[in-house]
Amino acid sequence: MGMHTLDLTVNGETVSTSVPARRLLADFLREDLHLTGTKRGCETGICGACTVLVDGQPLKSCLSLAVMASGCEVRTVEGLREGETLHRLQESFVRCAGLQCGYCTPGMLMSACALLEANPRPTADEVRAALGGNLCRCTGYTQIVESVLDAAGRRDGD
Ligand code: FES
Ligand code: FES
Repeated sequence: MGMHTLDLTVNGETVSTSVPARRLLADFLREDLHLTGTKRGCETGICGACTVLVDGQPLKSCLSLAVMASGCEVRTVEGLREGETLHRLQESFVRCAGLQCGYCTPGMLMSACALLEANPRPTADEVRAALGGNLCRCTGYTQIVESVLDAAGRRDGD
């Protein structure tokens, strides 16, 4: 199978490599870069566990070819925290019990991160809409929405 050059940044670090044309972005991140925080769930674009940010937009990496991210800035859950400091979304998910098994959490965090960067003070409906492509089989979603609102400083619905 032909190899394609791939130049991108992942969590701020430059990556220059080559990949088979059909290499999925999820597999490239998990297996080639060992960034296993990005999860594979349904692998059909439904669950959102594999969500990463590509140039700031949430993307289901199980449906995306790695070569399509060439020249782009990719962010995964590993890139959310700054040094030893958790991202405020991560702190809020812990504080508000926004996770149980945790399998959906990396994708939820990345979708929520994109939302807050575009809309720092979302309403609960805007949070629900932004997370519409992320499924959770544990929490019933209420605490996840509360977690995002908490991170946005709007837990009281102000
Ligand atoms: S694993 Fe990608 S959407 Fe489910
Ligand atoms: S916490 Fe288990 S799937 Fe969401």
